[in-house]
Amino acid sequence: MNKMLIKGGNKLNGKVRISGAKNSAVAILPATILSDTPVKINGLPNISDVHILTDLLNDVGGEATLNNNTLTLNPDGMNFNPVKKDKAQKLRASYYFMGAMLGKYKKAQIGLPGGCHLGPRPIDLHIKGFEALGAKVSETNDGDMYLHAEELRGADIYLDFASVGATINIMLAASKAKGKTVITNAAQEPEIVDVANFLMSMGADIKGAGTNTISIQGVEELKGEEHTIIPDRMEAGTYTILAAAIGEKIVIENIIPEHLEPLFAKLKEMGANLFVEEDRVTVTRTNGLKSVDVTTQVHPGFPTDLQQPFTTLLNVAEGKGTVTDTIYNERFKQIHEISKMGGDGKVKGNTVTIAGKNHLHGAKVKASDLRAGAALVIAGLIAEGVTEITGVEHIERGYSEIVEKLTTLGATIWYETQEEYRFSKPQFRKPILSNLSLVNS
Ligand code: EPZ
Repeated sequence: MNKMLIKGGNKLNGKVRISGAKNSAVAILPATILSDTPVKINGLPNISDVHILTDLLNDVGGEATLNNNTLTLNPDGMNFNPVKKDKAQKLRASYYFMGAMLGKYKKAQIGLPGGCHLGPRPIDLHIKGFEALGAKVSETNDGDMYLHAEELRGADIYLDFASVGATINIMLAASKAKGKTVITNAAQEPEIVDVANFLMSMGADIKGAGTNTISIQGVEELKGEEHTIIPDRMEAGTYTILAAAIGEKIVIENIIPEHLEPLFAKLKEMGANLFVEEDRVTVTRTNGLKSVDVTTQVHPGFPTDLQQPFTTLLNVAEGKGTVTDTIYNERFKQIHEISKMGGDGKVKGNTVTIAGKNHLHGAKVKASDLRAGAALVIAGLIAEGVTEITGVEHIERGYSEIVEKLTTLGATIWYETQEEYRFSKPQFRKPILSNLSLVNS
């Protein structure tokens, strides 16, 4: 198991450039199979989810090549193939192959998706949408889901919950259905707009992406062009939070500020010093941040994906703050781990209450999911002494070159690994710090 080690307490300074949005990329890569011609996707983050999805595209017969941050797909050799269960289960977003394959082949076969354990994560709304479009859903002998439609016809689909995944998956299938589909109570996240813009660049007829009502007029053909993924607002938010916690002066570049409005508003409420420009935010050191209360909502509310890193900031702010997650009811696994570092947090239902001004110290902690991992990295950067984080494969799913980026900001952070770790360049392996001693947890 790979471990990440952080010697905390360094004051961080400098610039960090945000990568492409994971939650756009993991939908747009499966969506490329809808194209009848070669397609190019730029600005992809260097994360394991992108690598897995590239493999899956090749498994279904596409000629997908990933070169740095650009994927090119030649669909000529594409044919209908079940999506391999072992790979499909490595990430939740593999379920986007359902909508894309239904749109392309009128059939799809895939194992149940994987992903972060944040509480129950059903896909009933996806299935409801596909059935409304005319698909029959069954289970194969070896437990795969099999979807098949004689014909995909546009339909009016109401989502009981504004699900990001269901909104995107239905949009993918509906893009080549016969007739018009209207999704009401659709999710409005920026990544949905990015996926819609990609589909429209191929000739799809979509209106209303980014609002709660999206209409899709099916078309016969989709011809791939070139698309650049939007910046990752969750990566940007994570670096903004750590900058507020332990930065002297940090510039976070390549962002879309309006995607981060809820976080910026809360940080300003705490007294953080943010200077927001067109494509960047500069965070300068502020002493005595005040705690606040946060409730996560669907976009444009405070995003659930930032509440976990935010709980680390509440640990060092003054006063008592609360975080209520209305999206997931088991998304506080980082609280127990941060308590090993001297942190605070009392979880009751889907609310955690945190008394601030805690002196964090290094410990051995475990990342249970992607954003819990981010919360622990921030805690490690703040803590006195050395923190050892296991479960780094979760972190690597959503934060490209995190060790490189934090090292550039002045952090002492490295991988301690038994084998060559594909995401860290040799210079980011164990640093020569002879006086290092792990704090016993
Ligand atoms: C997307 O997950 C993101 N993942 C998640 O980010 C994010 O937390 C989530 O949206 C909410 O914003 C990707 O985009 C790959 P949902 P998704 O469908 O699509 C319930 C990260 O950290 N629900 O909006 O799975 C579900 O149980 C990840 O980057 C149903 O009940 O989220 C959950 O409580 C973690 N039935 C809520 O809706 C369904 O059919 C939100 O789910 C679908 C969802």
